[in-house]
Amino acid sequence: MGTIGADLAEQVLGDGVLAADPLPALARLRAEAPVAPHRPTGAWILSRHADVLAASRDPATFCSGRGVLLEEIGVEYPSPPTMMHTDPPDHTRYRRLVAPAFAPRVVRALEAPIAARARAAVAALPAGEPVDVVAELAVPFPLRIIADLLGVPEDDWPRFHEWSEAAVPGASDRSPDEAAALMGEMTGYLLAAAADRRARPRDDVISLLATVEVDGERLDDDELAMFLVQLLVAGNETTRNALAGGLVAFAEHPDQWDRLRADRSPPALAAAVEEVLRWTTPVVYFLRTTTRGVTMHGVDLPAGTPVVLHYLSANRDEAAFGPTADRFLVDRDPNPHLAFGAGPHLCLGAALARLELRAVLGALADRFARLEPAGPVERAMSLVIAGHRRAPLALHPA
Ligand code: HEM
Repeated sequence: MGTIGADLAEQVLGDGVLAADPLPALARLRAEAPVAPHRPTGAWILSRHADVLAASRDPATFCSGRGVLLEEIGVEYPSPPTMMHTDPPDHTRYRRLVAPAFAPRVVRALEAPIAARARAAVAALPAGEPVDVVAELAVPFPLRIIADLLGVPEDDWPRFHEWSEAAVPGASDRSPDEAAALMGEMTGYLLAAAADRRARPRDDVISLLATVEVDGERLDDDELAMFLVQLLVAGNETTRNALAGGLVAFAEHPDQWDRLRADRSPPALAAAVEEVLRWTTPVVYFLRTTTRGVTMHGVDLPAGTPVVLHYLSANRDEAAFGPTADRFLVDRDPNPHLAFGAGPHLCLGAALARLELRAVLGALADRFARLEPAGPVERAMSLVIAGHRRAPLALHPA
C-alpha cells in the first residue's frame, strides 16, 4: 500500500485540494490504504469512519496536547492555545468550567431570538436575481449570533469577521504577520470585555465565563482569553461553511429542496441539518499524536506519530453510510456523521450550530421554492475548514 497510499495522501492534503475534488482519492484511500503516510508532514491519515471514531474516543493513545493541525506538528506552546489542545484531566476541567455556557437550558433560550434573526436575514435577501449567499447570509448570520451571545455591540461585528478569519490558516490571503496582529487585537478586545463584565456582569456568555466557578475554581485570564477566542472562531467559520455549502448542495439537488419544502416539520428539518453537516463537513480534519506505539491495519505507528482524523473521508465512508454514502439525502436515517468530531472533544457548540442551521433552512424553505446556481462557486484554500468564498445563487420565491 506504501507508494499508492502516499501518492493519494498528497492528493487529499496538498495545497488547494478543496478547490479540486478530493473525494475520489479519499475513496481509494479508504479502500486501499486506510492508514496512509503523508510524506510532506510525516503524519498518517486515517480515512475510515470506524478508525476516526475509535481514535477520537481514545485520547490516552491519540492525544491533542501536541497540536490539532498539521501546521502545529513540532510546535511547543508555553500554554495550550485552546481547550482543543488539552487532554484529560486538564481537558475535563475545562469542559466542566465552560459547560454552563452551553447547557441545554441556555441553548433553548436562544431558540426564539435565533429564529427571529433567521427570518429577518432571509427576508432581506433579493428574490429571483443572483445573490452571493456567502456574503449576504452565511458570513453575517453566525457572526451576529455569536456577537449576540457574547454581548458585543453591533458596531464591532465587522472586526469580528476579520479576526475570526485571521485565525484559520488559509481562510484569507493575509500574511502570517497580519494574521498574528489581528489575533492579538482580538485577544485584547475580548479580555477587556471580560474585565468589564467582571466589574459589571450582564446576561451574556462573557459574563458567565468571566465569573463561572466550579468547586471554587475559576478560569484565569489566559484561559478565559483562550476560550473566548475559540468561541469566536469555532462558532463562525464552521457554521458559515455548513450554511454556504448546504445551500450550494440544495441548489445542485433541487429534488432534495422539494422534499424539504414538502415536510418542514421539526424532525424533518433536523434530519436535513444532519445531512448538510455530513455533506459539507466544515472541519475537514483535526490532528492527534500517538502517545504509545500502535498498529493499525498492519501499519506500525510509533509513539509521537501525528495522525490525521479525516472527518470528510469518514463522512463519505460506505461502511458507515451504505451504498448511498455519495448521495445528498435530506431524510437520511441513521446519520452517524462525524462533522462535530467524537469523544471528549465532541463539539461544544453542536446544539447551537444545529439550532442556527435549522432556523435558516426553515426560513429559506418558507420563502423560496427554488435555489438555482447563478455563477461559479469559489472555494477557500484552507485545508482545515472547507470554506466557500463566493456562492452566487438565484432564489425563486414560492
Ligand atoms: C457547523 C458548525 C460546527 C462544526 C462543523 C464544528 C466542528 C467541531 C469539531 C470537529 C470539533 C472537535 C475538535 C476535536 O476533536 O479536536 C469541535 C470542537 C469544538 N467546537 Fe465546534 N463546530 C461547529 C460549531 C461550533 C460552534 C457554533 C461553537 C461555539 C459557539 C463551537 C465550539 C467548539 C468548541 C469550544 C470546541 C472544543 C471542544 C473541546 O475541545 O472539548 N463549535 N467543533
